[in-house]
Amino acid sequence: MTQPATVLVVGASRGLGLALAEEWLGRGWHVIATARGRSAGLDALAARFPGSLEVESVDINQAATVEALRRRLDGRRLDVLFVNAGIARAIEASPASASEADFLDMMLTNAFSPVRAAELLRDLVPAGGTVAIMTSELGSIANATGGWQLYSSSKAALNMLMKGYAAKHADGGHAVLLVAPGWVRTEMGGSDALLSIEESIPRVVDMIEANRGRAGLRYVDRFGAPLPW
Ligand SMILES: NC(=O)c1ccc[n+]([C@@H]2O[C@H](COP(=O)([O-])OP(=O)(O)OC[C@H]3O[C@@H](n4cnc5c(N)ncnc54)[C@H](OP(=O)(O)O)[C@@H]3O)[C@@H](O)[C@H]2O)c1
Repeated sequence: MTQPATVLVVGASRGLGLALAEEWLGRGWHVIATARGRSAGLDALAARFPGSLEVESVDINQAATVEALRRRLDGRRLDVLFVNAGIARAIEASPASASEADFLDMMLTNAFSPVRAAELLRDLVPAGGTVAIMTSELGSIANATGGWQLYSSSKAALNMLMKGYAAKHADGGHAVLLVAPGWVRTEMGGSDALLSIEESIPRVVDMIEANRGRAGLRYVDRFGAPLPW
């Protein structure tokens, strides 16, 4: 009997990460989903998909928790590693008004820690597999209009760090995807966002599957269209 494909979603307690886990479970995949604490959403998915969902504990800002997960997954194979975790703080602010702490928190959580997680976990993904990180349309410097200035900067920094990651691991044989999901109604996106989760996440998963086996770095929207850096 062939094993189902496996995806690890880092940051899946709620919002888009929880929806990614649900979407892949619905497609018959085995899902490893991480949360920082108890997640009612993941508990509900575990009840709906018994045996197909493993829930793990990771805070991407605590390297030791990522390293411990790597050890627990020793010998496992991930078809897709998807680092989704992210935060938005001080979205109306500029450096003239924001707290340094809010900016540093976003740079750590949205830029440094996701790439560190990819570095620590990437050897579980064989050649032909996929490493995906949730970025944003707002991470595009070329398209920037000044909105969500500090958050946008953290996603631009993520994109830059992934340029370095992809160059360093150019012979890894992975599709490396910086994924922009659109503006989606979650706690982060808010109620004014243009898209429902159902309008975004199934397209994201379709796009990840369409990119399977296509090695190299791409910054793309949910339909797979390239975005300007
Ligand atoms: N919604 C949008 O319109 C939109 C657009 C573009 C990009 N994005 C990106 O999509 C991703 C998910 O956003 P969302 O809208 O679903 O946001 P959300 O509803 O606020 O959920 C954020 C998720 O990230 C997790 N997280 C935050 N800090 C973490 C950490 N240090 N370690 C592990 N997990 C952590 C949260 O876990 P806890 O429950 O423990 O806090 C939660 O699961 C983010 O990277 C975001 O920047 C969102």
